[in-house]
Amino acid sequence: MRRKVIAGNWKMNMLPNEAISYIEKLTGLVKDTKNEVILCVPYTDLFYSLMQAQGTNIKIGAQNMHFEEKGAYTGEVSGQMLKAIGVEYVIIGHSERRQYYNETDESVNKKIKAAFENNLKPIVCVGESLEQRESGKTKEIITTQTRLALDGLSKDQVKNTIIAYEPIWAIGTGKTATSEDANNSIKEIREEIEKIYGKDVSDEVIIQYGGSVKSKNAKELFETSDIDGGLVGGASLDPEEFSKIVNYEE
Ligand code: 13P
Repeated sequence: MRRKVIAGNWKMNMLPNEAISYIEKLTGLVKDTKNEVILCVPYTDLFYSLMQAQGTNIKIGAQNMHFEEKGAYTGEVSGQMLKAIGVEYVIIGHSERRQYYNETDESVNKKIKAAFENNLKPIVCVGESLEQRESGKTKEIITTQTRLALDGLSKDQVKNTIIAYEPIWAIGTGKTATSEDANNSIKEIREEIEKIYGKDVSDEVIIQYGGSVKSKNAKELFETSDIDGGLVGGASLDPEEFSKIVNYEE
């Protein structure tokens, strides 16, 4: 049985003092869960969040990184830098970065490799736009994005990659994919991984759903055969709401 991984993506929200009091509150609310809990916070909150989360079951991730170790890349942060302060996870290839910051399948692949070189666990986002969905291209888009993202990784690395299937039309819109639709797309991603890396890998790899996940729909989504948890945006900004998603079984 695969574990469930529930990750919050705060996006560009939360000041350090807000991050600290959020984690203080969340700690008690999720301390008994058997699910994995991750918060992906802005760079400026990372250090404070790591300090506050010490000794708890809350893990901390970043939302992006550069693929080079260091150098003349003004404004960028490398995997080596994230690792040095104790970050464990990093979101790579979020659709907002693909859309607004020129992230490509190629840069996503380079970043995933750089993440592994620094012992960071990548949370890799794939997902189709509304237009692609309406023209029947969902499967082609998500399997191609998955294949290109993972290109050149070892079996072990793929097993340690978390994939987040996030249909772009469901992000921040209040429109959730039905649990059946989301589960089907995630099965297609898993089958693609099986084709390339074998069943031992595809059976183990964690694939989350993201896009308007809330406490109200979490249980239905997470109890399907192939959805292994969620990557939660808006609803992760409130610790009580987020804790209800983490504790969705109750
Ligand atoms: P929402 O949960 O706000 O739709 O965002 C999803 C997302 O983009 C998480 O990475």
